[in-house]
This record gives sequence, C-alpha cells and structure tokens, in this order.
Amino acid sequence: MAVITAESLSSTVGAEVIGVDVDRLLSDETLPAWTLEVLEAHGALVFRDLHIDDATQIAFSKKLGRVEVFGRGENPEIFRVTLDPAKNPVAEYLKGTFDWHIDGCTDDVPIVATILSAHAVAATGGETEFASTYAAFDDLPEEEQERCLSMRVVHSLEAAQRLGNDDPSPKELAIWRSRPAKEHPLVWTHASGRRSLVLGATASHIVGMDIDEGRAVLDDLLVRSTTPERVYQHHWNVGDMVIWDNRGVLHRACPYDAISARDMHRTTLHGDEVIR
Ligand code: OGA
Ligand code: MN
Repeated sequence: MAVITAESLSSTVGAEVIGVDVDRLLSDETLPAWTLEVLEAHGALVFRDLHIDDATQIAFSKKLGRVEVFGRGENPEIFRVTLDPAKNPVAEYLKGTFDWHIDGCTDDVPIVATILSAHAVAATGGETEFASTYAAFDDLPEEEQERCLSMRVVHSLEAAQRLGNDDPSPKELAIWRSRPAKEHPLVWTHASGRRSLVLGATASHIVGMDIDEGRAVLDDLLVRSTTPERVYQHHWNVGDMVIWDNRGVLHRACPYDAISARDMHRTTLHGDEVIR
C-alpha cells in the first residue's frame, strides 16, 4: 500500500493528508492511531475528494474515539451544520460559528475533535479558518506566559451570542443564561504536557479583574493568536473532510449567505480531558 503522508498547510496549523481513499478510511487498521497522532501535531487535517456518506463518516469517527449522539433516526451521530432551519432546527445558533471559538467551552470536558464533511458548499464565503492556541501560547514572551498562567476566565453562551446579537429579547437572554457559565484557567496544561490558550467567543471576563480591563486582555490575546499568518483558511469543495483538534485550535466559519446551500455533516468526538 502507498505510504500516507501529511503535508503542512501553514507554519503553525493544518496539514493535508495524501493517500487516503474511502476504502482505506474504513479498512486500514493503522490509520486511526496515525490520524490521532498527526492531528495532535498539526491541529487540523484535510482529506480531499473523499465524498463519504454518513455511515462511512460515523464508522471512521468511531475508530477515532467516542462519538456524540445528537438526534434520532438512522444516523443520530450526524449534526448538520447549515443555516437552513429546514435542515437544522437550531440553525439560528450556528451564526455563533462566525466568531473565533473553541467548541464546548461551557461544558465540563470540551470535545476532543470535530469532523466535518462537505455535502454542499457556499457560492461565496463559507471557508473555515483555524488557528493554533498551542502555538499562540508557545510564542508569547515568557513573562506574559507567566501572567497568563495565573489568570482564570469565565466562559458563557451569553458572551458568545452577544457578539452577533447585542440587543437580545428577555426570552433570548433567558435561554442563553439557562446554560451555566464555566470558569477555566486561561492556559490549559494538557496531559501531554503541552499548553494552550483557552480563548474565543465564549470568553466573557477574567476573574478578579475589572470587566473591561479583562475583556481588553482577552481581545488582545485573541487578535494576536489569529493574525493572518497564523491562520489556515480551508476553502471547501464538495467531498472534502476536515478534522480539527478542538483542544488546541480555535476555529470559525467565514460569513456565508443564510440561504446558501452550504451543508456540512458533522461528527463529534467526546472529550477526554478537563481544562486545568
Ligand atoms: C462547528 C463549526 C464551522 C464551519 O461545526 O463547530 O464551528 O465552518 N463549524 O461550519
Ligand atoms: Mn465550532
């Protein structure tokens, strides 16, 4: 069998996997462990031209870890990332994907990784962007790393939703606030020994600091973590599959039209590590 390789797509995040087709995705017993290792090293992996169906995506995802269940029916592990409410009843919330974020920051244990496969793409926009928060921490000056290591941050759904809707109705606000906020250290020290910044749309304020001052610190770190040269932007073609390591990578969707056909089928790998 041909050797599978991963070719870097930018200096800090992203690699394209070459040499995998659908057969190999399901039959190569060494592929899952290889994928997880390379994912940890590169943060995001791009597989082009796979055109997998839902059953194949679920089967491969299950080889990588525990897969979350969202719905009912034939393929309950599939969540559709689309702004079309006919395809996803909670489409409104997906506008939150337009801001840099880490999935599951208000959960006890954020998910390990997300897998998207493109079933339809936007005519314009709709790229997905990635930035490594491992690299963002590693590249901070040492004394700033020390300062960050002492800070704790409150994450909330409200903070994330406010970015797209700063005048919520009382009902919207009540729904947002029904999800409890969560406090995390600003720096996640992983079991692997690596460290990453925990930033993004859900980051509300820094514990024990004036709200505006804390916001300014968080905003500044986010801006510096996501400067264009630190970002890999994935331009989707139908049939692409992309996996990202949600523990050490920020991501966001570039704007696309609400009536666009864009339709990503998503599987989610359950978390295995609390932020600490
Ligand atoms: C997600 C997400 C980005 C995109 O599925 O968690 O943020 O480009 N998706 O659709
Ligand atoms: Mn997301």
